Amino acid sequence: MFVFRTGILGGRVDISVTVNGEPTSHDVEARRLLVHYLREDVGLTGTNIGCDTSSCGACTVHLNGESVKSCTLLAVQADGQDVTTIEGLAPSSDELHPMQEAFRQEHGLQCGYCTPGMVMAAVSLLDENAKPTELEVRQGLEGNLCRCTGYHNIVKAVLAASGQPVKD
Ligand code: FES
Ligand code: FES
Repeated sequence: MFVFRTGILGGRVDISVTVNGEPTSHDVEARRLLVHYLREDVGLTGTNIGCDTSSCGACTVHLNGESVKSCTLLAVQADGQDVTTIEGLAPSSDELHPMQEAFRQEHGLQCGYCTPGMVMAAVSLLDENAKPTELEVRQGLEGNLCRCTGYHNIVKAVLAASGQPVKD
């Protein structure tokens, strides 16, 4: 449990968060967003920031295995919790996660800015629904925007990662 050291809005808080299996501890402003904690305090810049309206999903990570937009949470809300970022998804440094491999195979990225959040959301989607239909994939990823509009190949990648045949 975190402890506020001064007033809530202007105060600072000691928090401990397990990030990609590694314990991290930092003294943060109480108003610090989780995405800023991950990028600037922990130094994991794979999680992107694409908007200031909680609408693009570029900042998607897993909190205790569930996908969340890390710009919509305070870092203090992750105190004592497990966070997984795109850097922690692959099983090793020379092996991609099956979802990352499917994005690579199906050309599910163009500029790549949305990709970390898209991949994290897609992994969470398959955790909840192992064999989604194309419509379910589109609905499941509707909180993640791709400014390159590469949705067709992203959907193909998720279907491929689910082990289902992919149509062109
Ligand atoms: S940066 Fe979080 S939803 Fe856009
Ligand atoms: S690949 Fe460019 S924003 Fe999606």
